[in-house]
Amino acid sequence: MTKESLLFCSSEIYPFAKTGGLADVAHSLPRALQDSYEIKVVMPLYSSVDRKKYAIKSLKKNFNISMNDIDYEVELFGCNYEGVEYIFIYSNLLCDREFLYGTPTSGYSDNALRFAIFCRAIIELLRVNTYTILHLNDWQTGLVPLLLQEENKINTKTLFTIHNLAYQGLYSYETLKEIGIDSKYFTIDILEFYGQMNFIKAAIAYSDAITTVSQSYADEILTVPFGCGLDGFLRYHKNKLTGIINGIDSEHFTPCKDKLLEYPFSNLTQKKLNKKSYLKEKNLKGITKPLFIFIGRFTEQKGVDLLIDSLEQIASNDCNIAILGDGEEKYQEKIIEIVNRYDNIHFEFKYNEVLSHQMYASADFLLMPSLFEPCGLNQMIAMNYGAIPIVHKVGGLKDTVHDYNLFDKDSTKGYGILFEEVSSNGLIDSFNEAMKLYGTKKEYNKIVKHNMLCDFSWKNSAKLYDKLYKQL
Ligand code: GLC
Repeated sequence: MTKESLLFCSSEIYPFAKTGGLADVAHSLPRALQDSYEIKVVMPLYSSVDRKKYAIKSLKKNFNISMNDIDYEVELFGCNYEGVEYIFIYSNLLCDREFLYGTPTSGYSDNALRFAIFCRAIIELLRVNTYTILHLNDWQTGLVPLLLQEENKINTKTLFTIHNLAYQGLYSYETLKEIGIDSKYFTIDILEFYGQMNFIKAAIAYSDAITTVSQSYADEILTVPFGCGLDGFLRYHKNKLTGIINGIDSEHFTPCKDKLLEYPFSNLTQKKLNKKSYLKEKNLKGITKPLFIFIGRFTEQKGVDLLIDSLEQIASNDCNIAILGDGEEKYQEKIIEIVNRYDNIHFEFKYNEVLSHQMYASADFLLMPSLFEPCGLNQMIAMNYGAIPIVHKVGGLKDTVHDYNLFDKDSTKGYGILFEEVSSNGLIDSFNEAMKLYGTKKEYNKIVKHNMLCDFSWKNSAKLYDKLYKQL
């Protein structure tokens, strides 16, 4: 049987370029679908991508994209990585930057133009080859379904996935002309959003189906507190919206096979070797004390304010804390100020994949106080690596972490500690519960061992995507 063809488009893909979980999903979901579909995966070829390492070669196919009487030259590159075919889109304006979307303080002012080039290059790919399904991700690809309205020879069905509704791609009305979009689309039911142009609205209006990355987030974004101004618009398009929970890549995130670990492990005795070595390396003392970790982007979304507000109280207990991530510098300064006064907190302001694996392998608990969380991957990784997650009961966190007080050994669910109150008190209460749980070794070990065996792979969710593609 010949496989249907699928073009999967994302503005970031691990390991080529990553700022967040989208990159992990864009790496692992296509791999999970590979047996059922003929897949090509598309991404911009940013200057930060290591072309030699990934054997990325020019496909010697150049074309021009013309917008507002200006020509933008595009060159296609490609490679096969871990059995998946990648197409990279190179255009000087889109790609030759230090960061993907902007500096730590603000987004690049010409992002509309940059990602319009990306979207139009995707259309060009669809003109040359036939794809049954086009799977788009986040606002950077949002214009594609609108541009397809103008193409009568392309017959692809579109699925758009919202990974985070807080990022919509908002630009001034004047930008419309710059990116060559007819002003007839600037209406309340398509592009217009409080006087501005909104990329994600175009995708919601014109995609054949929309998914987001957990069922709870799919419900939440239909409400005012989580809808980021688009809840009404989404309620209008509700019939094409579903939630499909993300998976984690079982090849890269299985502790007994993890090549990034000094001591790959499948039991708690082996796990301890990682903890011992990590604590020593980072100059933290006390192997018997619980190690709490936080890994993530320093943005408001991730609950960094809650973390900072409760950090001193947490650190006054008999425990160690390790924090890793990058993002807004104002948070960095505040954390450093506290870290300087406590020798049981270790802090690194950077993104580092290897170190993050080491931390999951060493930790006893993961702190994830996100204000909202479309899915979140860290809590699933943590559970498989034997660290109990402490999470705000919201979005994908609520769908993947279940209250340990209701532990059922026969269930396939993962367990952790959840708090509802969005405040540092909520987090501190859960922290105190964690300390108590850690004190009852038997209870603690029972949950950890159970979580390590839970299946958070793409197996089930890939089937749901498959079903959805078929429905299209
Ligand atoms: C975004 C969301 C996160 C989700 C990831 C992948 O980063 O904030 O919750 O897990 O996308 O879908």
